[in-house]
Amino acid sequence: MTQFDYLCYEPWPLPSKLLMDLERSTHMTQTIIGKLDHGQEKVALLPGLNPPHWEFGHLIWFHEFWVHRKGVKSNPSFLAHADALFNSSEMIHDARWQVQIPSIDILMNYFSDVVERTLAILRSGILSPEQAYFIQLALYHEDMHNEAFAYMWQSLGYVWPLEQGLKASQDQHNDVESRYIHVPQCQFKLGSAPNTGFIFDNEKWQHEVLVPNFSISSHAVSNGEYLEFLRSLNDAGISFIEHQPAYWKKEGNTWFERFFDQWRELDLNASVRNISAHNAERYCLWKDVRLPTENELSVLMTAARESWQPSSLWEWTSSIFKPFEGFSPDPYQDYSAPWFDSRHRVLKGWSVYTPDYLRRSQFRNFYIPSRSDFFCGFRTCLA
Ligand SMILES: [Fe+2]
Repeated sequence: MTQFDYLCYEPWPLPSKLLMDLERSTHMTQTIIGKLDHGQEKVALLPGLNPPHWEFGHLIWFHEFWVHRKGVKSNPSFLAHADALFNSSEMIHDARWQVQIPSIDILMNYFSDVVERTLAILRSGILSPEQAYFIQLALYHEDMHNEAFAYMWQSLGYVWPLEQGLKASQDQHNDVESRYIHVPQCQFKLGSAPNTGFIFDNEKWQHEVLVPNFSISSHAVSNGEYLEFLRSLNDAGISFIEHQPAYWKKEGNTWFERFFDQWRELDLNASVRNISAHNAERYCLWKDVRLPTENELSVLMTAARESWQPSSLWEWTSSIFKPFEGFSPDPYQDYSAPWFDSRHRVLKGWSVYTPDYLRRSQFRNFYIPSRSDFFCGFRTCLA
């Protein structure tokens, strides 16, 4: 297929639906950024962080660039120097701390101008395929950055100002029996087929894979199970500090987990989160199990919901993030292609900060295996 595949990501959503989703996401972004206290926008230079006002400027710039400037730099921005300030493809991570970011009032006005112009298109009720595609791209990009704000706020210990996602560990329903599910060898359709609506380029295209039989846990590994692992290291005289989840602490005999700005007693039944793939694999080694492959986790996630329990976490796989055969990048060329570098792993699932419409079983997330700052967990397969 070609670089114009995106013109065929039909069916297109109704403009009224996109309008509702964009208003909701915009309100979330404005609340997250607007409720920062003075000074909280200044953060230390760390790999998992962006300066919050830079990230805010970037998501507005991205929206304006693709929806209103047609992805062409010579079409002027509403904001002076926007390309030099906010193009993530051209600005290395550390440089984001060096630039003079416009004031929050200027950024909020920039945001309102850009979004208002898009809402006007949506209110007209008529969208060209280009508009439908790029408005979705801008919206989903904003949603991903809203999720990134959530894990950054968690890292920084900031108050999370939204109702959504305030009860991350309590909103899981343990209504499925905990067991290993045996899945016989099967042919599975991995990836997305044409004409199934919006997709990201790394999902192209659906193809059959042979998945040998495997047994996968119905539940993600829980805090209680992970704690058992730490205790066994301790009993063996091995320091467990490097395996301990970042937001755990022990006081007396009680373990606590920090949830944004609050310490809560560790919920032993909740899925363990903020675990790197390396620590997940260390747990697996101890338990004589293994991480699922992308194929295996994809099979599980399309199985009947009564048989397995989602964790509301991005779940690690043992699979390197690679293009499917026939991959071609979509107009935002840096979405996937730069990350096919053998350093990134595939994760499947979603977090509580992921909107419903991005919780698709074909969606492929990807991070380097040492990261644990985003909302990730894991389940296991029998070895
Ligand atoms: Fe981005």
